[in-house]
This record gives sequence, C-alpha cells and structure tokens, in this order.
Amino acid sequence: MGRLTADGVASVTVEGGNLCNDPSKQPVIVESLVKMRYAACLTGSADTDSVRKDAGNAKLAVVPPFDPAHPDQTSWIIELGSARVACLRLEPPGQTGEEAWERALVSSLTALRKRADVVAVASRLSEAENRRLAGQLGPAGLIQAIFVAPANCTPDLPTVADGVLLCPTKDRGQAVTLLEAERAGGKSWKLSCRLETVGSAYAPDPTIGDLVGRYYQSRQTTLAGATAEKPLSEASYAPAPRCKPCHAKAYDVWQKSVHARAVATLREKQRLVPECLTCHSEQFRRNTQFDADLAAEDDGVQCSTCHGDGIVHALTRGIPALSREQTCGSCHTEGDQVHGAFSTEAALRRIQH
Ligand code: HEC
Ligand code: HEC
Ligand code: HEC
Ligand code: HEC
Repeated sequence: MGRLTADGVASVTVEGGNLCNDPSKQPVIVESLVKMRYAACLTGSADTDSVRKDAGNAKLAVVPPFDPAHPDQTSWIIELGSARVACLRLEPPGQTGEEAWERALVSSLTALRKRADVVAVASRLSEAENRRLAGQLGPAGLIQAIFVAPANCTPDLPTVADGVLLCPTKDRGQAVTLLEAERAGGKSWKLSCRLETVGSAYAPDPTIGDLVGRYYQSRQTTLAGATAEKPLSEASYAPAPRCKPCHAKAYDVWQKSVHARAVATLREKQRLVPECLTCHSEQFRRNTQFDADLAAEDDGVQCSTCHGDGIVHALTRGIPALSREQTCGSCHTEGDQVHGAFSTEAALRRIQH
C-alpha cells in the first residue's frame, strides 16, 4: 500500500468510499486516508476545498465527483505516476430520460476508457441498476469497478458482477474502501477491493496531525467569530438544571454520565468545531452556533436532546408529557467500527435514570 512515486508504479490505490455530501465527515476521512498512505480519494462535498488543501500538502489527490464548483463535470482523469485512473460520477437519470442518459453514459465511458488504465465509477444508483449496468457495460471492459454506497447496495459486497468489481462503501470515516490495481508484468491490471477499518490502529503522524490541527483551529475560529456576531438570544431548549427540581434522580444520573461531558471531551481534544459539535453539543445542534462560555451543565448531550426542548413541559409542571423524539441511532451506530460495537439495548441499561 505504498504511496506512489514519480518514477512509475506497479500498483495504485484509490479510495472511493465516502461519497457523501456531509462536510462533517470530510476531515476525518482525509486524516485516515493520509495516515493510511493512500494515493487518491474519490470524494467531494461543498466543503471539500479547505480539506483538499491539507490533503494536497500531504500528497493525497482528492477527486471531487460531486464538486459544486463544477456541477456539470462528471468525469476526471487522475495521473498517478505512470498510471491513469478515470473517475466517473453516476447519478440517476432524473429528467433526462433513460435512453438519452444511457447513450451519454456509454459515450463518456468509451472516451474515458481510451485514455485510462483503470475506470472507477462512483455510483448513486440502486443495486439493481448497478448490476444491470455491469451486465451491459462490463464485458466490453468499459467499467472495471463501481463504488456503491451502503444505502444502494447490500453490505456483503464486494462481488463481481459480469466482470465488474462492486466495491462496498461506508461513511462516517468508519472504514474506507480500497480499490487496488496491480500491474502484473505485462499491461493488464488486476483489480481487487477491500474495506479497511479506520481507527486507532493507525498511529498518529505528527506532520498530518499538525495539518489537520490547523484546519480545525481555523474552523473553531470561524465558528467563534460567527457566534460573536450573532449571539444566542433566547434558549431554544430548557437546559438540564431546569429539570433538576422535579427530576432530581434523573439529573444526578445524567450529570455523572459521559453525555453531560460531551462538550468537555471536545474541549480537551481542541475540537470545538461544527464537525464534532453536531453530535456533542445540544446548543450547536439547535442553533448552529456555539458559545464556549455557556455553563457546562447547559450543554453536551442534554435531557432535551432525547426528550424534546422541554420548555413548555418545564413551565407547566410536567404537562404535557415529553416524547422521546431523539433516537440513539442518530449519533450512535450499531456495530460502529471505530468505537467498538454499540448495542442499543445494553446502552439503554447504562443510561437508566
Ligand atoms: C455522528 C455523531 C458524532 C460525531 C459527528 C462526532 N462524535 Fe464523537 N462520539 C459520538 C458518540 C456516539 C460517542 C460515544 C461512542 C461510544 O463510546 O460508544 C462519541 C465519543 C467521542 C469521544 C470519546 C470516546 C473516544 O472514542 O475516545 C471522543 C474523544 C470524541 N467522540 C471526539 C469526537 C471528535 C473529535 C469529533 C469530530 C471530529 C467527533 N467526536 C464527532 C458521536 C459523534
Ligand atoms: C441519551 C438520551 C437521554 C438523555 C440525555 C436523558 N434521557 Fe431521560 N430517558 C431517556 C430514555 C430512552 C428513557 C426511557 C428509559 C426506559 O424506557 O427504560 C428516559 C426516561 C426518562 C424519564 C421517565 C422515567 C420513567 O420512570 O418513566 C424521565 C423523567 C427522564 N428520562 C428525565 C430525564 C432528565 C431530567 C434528563 C436530564 C437530566 C434526561 N432524562 C436525560 C433518554 C434520555
Ligand atoms: C415543575 C416540575 C417539572 C419540571 C421542571 C420538569 N418536569 Fe418532567 N415531569 C414532571 C411531572 C409532574 C411529570 C409526570 C410524572 C408522572 O406522570 O409520573 C413529568 C414527566 C416527565 C417525563 C416522563 C414523560 C412520560 O411520558 O413518561 C420526562 C421524560 C420528563 N418529565 C422530562 C423532563 C425534562 C427533560 C425536563 C427539563 C427540560 C423536565 N421534565 C422538567 C414535572 C416536571
Ligand atoms: C446527540 C447525540 C447523541 C444521542 C442522540 C445519544 N448519544 Fe449517547 N453519546 C453521545 C456522545 C457524544 C457520547 C460520548 C460523550 C463523551 O464521551 O464525551 C455518548 C456516549 C454514550 C454512552 C457511553 C459510552 C461509553 O463507552 O462510555 C452511552 C451508554 C450512551 N451514549 C447511550 C445512549 C443511548 C442509550 C442513547 C439513546 C437513548 C443515546 N446515547 C443517544 C451522543 C449521543
């Protein structure tokens, strides 16, 4: 999995998994990719620009299949040493009509195929559509690999459909999808695909840590600036101390829990940034602002994160009763590979209050 060198390569490694538009996921993904010494990453979002700069410094090519700056561009060729990898973005036909869409697809694939050693497709189509395309375009050698989002395909891939490699992807930077292309002796490339877990197994690299740290630092400063201009005027939820008089036991249990410490955790890591606050801070979740001076017990994963804003309820002596609108799954993922397995049933017992 060595990084590419300028003097020709026998293999290239491309990550193509995290095709999501959620900017909060980008830095985590890039950090992992760089640590793992990838050559290129097919990804992209509205926020890719700032990340691309850091990745560029770290010699990771970030290819933006969904680049808002170039909404009409659907294909890219990246030069990786002596190898050329063509990347194509594939979205459902939408208004254009099936036939026109397929004609356009075949012609752009044909063009790319002539200029590239490997063609990788980032697909947002359904599993059935991906397989149909593989059947139609695979034997002619037009597509060699398709990266598919978990929502669009069964998770037990990779599989080969009509000679085309279907590579499963995962988001949240939990795992990255590696497409490895190896040139064995002659000219033909042998492709394989695997999921690589991102996590503590990858020892921190001080140079990358510094780059990523600077990125987060600038995010933190920007957010603080925006919040200073637009101060939090009114509370959009009743903070935990407002619940305490009537739910003393629940409050005590909560206060000792890690949910109450969720912002403190980020402060220790110097990550008071939107990417992380989006799950760790109720204040940010409700207002997309963050006032670092808010009392500790008023923020974090609050009572109101799980029970609704609680404003009327707290004022009307418990009537109407609160719903539990927030599921655990919006922040915790079953079988999360980074933090170890999360079981909702066991976790519910652990937060019993
Ligand atoms: C999608 C929601 C979500 C986002 C976004 C998120 N976290 Fe977390 N974080 C969690 C959850 C859930 C846990 C508890 C995991 C567990 O232990 O089961 C957690 C736990 C942690 C912990 C303590 C446990 C550990 O693994 O060390 C740290 C530190 C942490 N997060 C840092 C961050 C940082 C830094 C960011 C931003 C780069 C971030 N988190 C973004 C949901 C999130
Ligand atoms: C992480 C989500 C979460 C947080 C944070 C949380 N709760 Fe709950 N709460 C729940 C869930 C889930 C239940 C239902 C538990 C069950 O059915 O076993 C519950 C139950 C309750 C109940 C009803 C208990 C009963 O006997 O029926 C009260 C009252 C309550 N919570 C108050 C609070 C207060 C006050 C806070 C903050 C100090 C808080 N909760 C924080 C998720 C949460
Ligand atoms: C003035 C007192 C008071 C305050 C303040 C208060 N509650 Fe309650 N809460 C009640 C009463 C009374 C009930 C009904 C208890 C019952 O039916 O057994 C209740 C019930 C609940 C329940 C259970 C609802 C259900 O359907 O079983 C939850 C959850 C809850 N409160 C959460 C909160 C949260 C979160 C806050 C803070 C935002 C809060 N409460 C503030 C008095 C209060
Ligand atoms: C808004 C996001 C969010 C929601 C919703 C949420 N959690 Fe959490 N949870 C977190 C974060 C963030 C942490 C880690 C906090 C830290 O360590 O700083 C965490 C930590 C935990 C932990 C401790 C894990 C450990 O390894 O110590 C348990 C248990 C837990 N949550 C259970 C639940 C349950 C059960 C629910 C649903 C009723 C729930 N959480 C809903 C964000 C959330």
